[in-house]
Amino acid sequence: MIGKDLQQVKALLLDGRLVAIPTETVYGLAANAFDSEAVAKVFEAKGRPTFNPLIVHTNSLEKATDYLLEIPPLAKELAEAFWPGPLTLLLPKSEKIASLVTAGNDRVAIRVPKHSLTLKLLEELPFPLVAPSANPYQYISPTHPEHVNAQLGEKVDYILDGGRCEVGMESTIIGFDKGEPIIYRYGGLALEKIEDQIGRKIKAKENTDKVETPGQSALHYAPHNKVIVGHPVSLTGVMKNKTFAVLSFQNRVIAPNVKECRILSPEGNLQEAAANFFDYLHALDQVEVDAIIAEQVPNSGLGIAINDRLARAAAR
Ligand code: TXA
Ligand code: MG
Repeated sequence: MIGKDLQQVKALLLDGRLVAIPTETVYGLAANAFDSEAVAKVFEAKGRPTFNPLIVHTNSLEKATDYLLEIPPLAKELAEAFWPGPLTLLLPKSEKIASLVTAGNDRVAIRVPKHSLTLKLLEELPFPLVAPSANPYQYISPTHPEHVNAQLGEKVDYILDGGRCEVGMESTIIGFDKGEPIIYRYGGLALEKIEDQIGRKIKAKENTDKVETPGQSALHYAPHNKVIVGHPVSLTGVMKNKTFAVLSFQNRVIAPNVKECRILSPEGNLQEAAANFFDYLHALDQVEVDAIIAEQVPNSGLGIAINDRLARAAAR
């Protein structure tokens, strides 16, 4: 059921049930973070392996402090600057957070989402919420209540309707190594903004065999249709005997074998492109074609997150 009844949502969550919640980034599949059975249901509903940990959502830095062993000064500065907002911090967890939530990791991923309905909910609940993106494992993230309904409708007890997600990309994840910030996932908060705030460059996590953010595996965000990343005009021209749906950055692509074309941002605005990205991928996945051809966007600001999602969507 899709609706806006916060009292019903509260009652369901208190009862250990699953509710899809709106955030500024994508919809989350939420459960009581303090209730291990409810947390287990999240993994099950998503079809997600339990070695892939969940993000904890709360409504204030003060409450977050309670779920953490310590907050390094730089982490505090980032939280104060960007919460509520699309930033997740990876920090040492306190004993209040069960290891099921973090998949045995000493660190918990935590954030304060920026959405009025969800903030109100979190304010009133006596526990934080775990919430991975509300999509089946490895499928496209949902940015609209209807996406959740189509993908997981049978498996959630309620979908809290907060409209379309404003940012449209998952949160940026930052961890710390000996106090130095490291980026684990490019996302809805542009790296440049974080670097401007702290006045220094942020390193990317080195590629090691140990997957520290298991959700960052190569195959992810994958539609059912095959995805090819490249230049739409030349690719559709070369493969004339195939049919395509096109996700372009600024320009409409017209060709006999192009069944549908979605334009991320005619003006070339990366914020608009990010907000449209998953929505358009969902739409193009409904079209019967041989493949979706998606064009890379400029690799700066939110464009880095968009190109990252594109590469993973094409990894099948
Ligand atoms: O914007 C977002 O972050 C959305 C909304 C709902 O808040 N949530 C989201 O969750 O994208 P999810 O589960 O789809 O992606 C979380 C990522 C995964 O790659 C996971 O492996 C990583 O964060 N992660 C979560 N907890 C972690 C932990 N304790 N240590 C390392 N990585 C963690
Ligand atoms: Mg996800």
